[in-house]
Amino acid sequence: MQEISIRFSELFGRTPEVVAQAPGRVNLIGEHIDYSDGFVLPFAISDCTVVALARRDDRKIRLASVQKSAEIFEVSLDDLAPMVGESWARYALGVLWVLGIDTGVDLLIDGRVPLGAGLSSSAALECSIAIAVNHLFNKNLSLPELARAAQKAENEYVGVPCGIMDQSVSLMAKAGSALLLDCRDLSSENIPFLIAPQGLELLIIDTQAHHKLVDGGYAERRASCERAVAELGITSLRDISVAQYAARQSELDPVTYIRGFHAVTEMKRVLDSVDALKHNNFARLGELLNASHRSLRDDYTVSCPELNLAVDTALAQGALGARMVGGGFGGSAIALIKADQVKRCEVAISRAFSDAGFKAPRFFTSLPSEGAHVISN
Ligand code: GLA
Repeated sequence: MQEISIRFSELFGRTPEVVAQAPGRVNLIGEHIDYSDGFVLPFAISDCTVVALARRDDRKIRLASVQKSAEIFEVSLDDLAPMVGESWARYALGVLWVLGIDTGVDLLIDGRVPLGAGLSSSAALECSIAIAVNHLFNKNLSLPELARAAQKAENEYVGVPCGIMDQSVSLMAKAGSALLLDCRDLSSENIPFLIAPQGLELLIIDTQAHHKLVDGGYAERRASCERAVAELGITSLRDISVAQYAARQSELDPVTYIRGFHAVTEMKRVLDSVDALKHNNFARLGELLNASHRSLRDDYTVSCPELNLAVDTALAQGALGARMVGGGFGGSAIALIKADQVKRCEVAISRAFSDAGFKAPRFFTSLPSEGAHVISN
């Protein structure tokens, strides 16, 4: 029996009806453009959130997390409403609220995606529950429909204005590939991302920094992109080329213009990266990662000193490319680097962080892994 099933039985005195898991993610490239209808290129990491679930014959929801000493949080199905629940529990309750279940449930979560590292532990939690509920309650929803439901839970129940990328990749990723996702209609293509045979690794550097701007800064950047679209009278930043956008600079205030400039150039970088991957051109991919970082740092201004130091040090150690990933203002950076240089790079980044008086960073590597699935029922 799975470890989580044993814990579930100890806690709730019965066996779970379904166990499912969903991974966190790293975004290779395509940052801050999912909410502008862009293409993004994330992949799932091997760290997952696992959930065990069983229906009840009343309307109680009992919720516990292995990481929270399995303390049981209880609420009635009839009382579910935005913001009800402890902060971590809201992500789970939000999914139940959006999907609509007709009986209560007992639910145990084992979250193994590092928290606060910008690796989408929240999407992993939402998607593990979405996939389990879809299965147990015979919802027959497609993966894009489940992604939209999980995003809605985060937007409306938890109150975080995230885009659709994290939930989509957590549900739809395939091992060995990055997911080229069209955020407009959620169609996707698996792009093989096999770096090990090239002697390369993707080092994930969790800076352990969490700057205050995380929430307000994200919403503010998103609003700038929406303003650019409204003022230019276009359907989305997806529908304008870099040259067309640049030609209309005088119609926008400088800040709105430069934010939108990041979006339109990043959209192009994603497609160029796909082309580079299809031709096994990792040097080119590295250049595009670097250009993405510069754009996020200088134009979109969502980086921070810790992320910049991680990226600069990785490049000084010979990385082919490096950039911040996720929402920014802290969290993780990635570096595409020769496998035999990884250790030296980690040491150099740790030393640079210590010299700068920053908290010690954490390092991970992960191959592109499989998206959410039911493990047992
Ligand atoms: C966060 C959001 C995503 C996406 C990224 C930036 O991870 O949840 O929807 O916008 O930031 O690319």
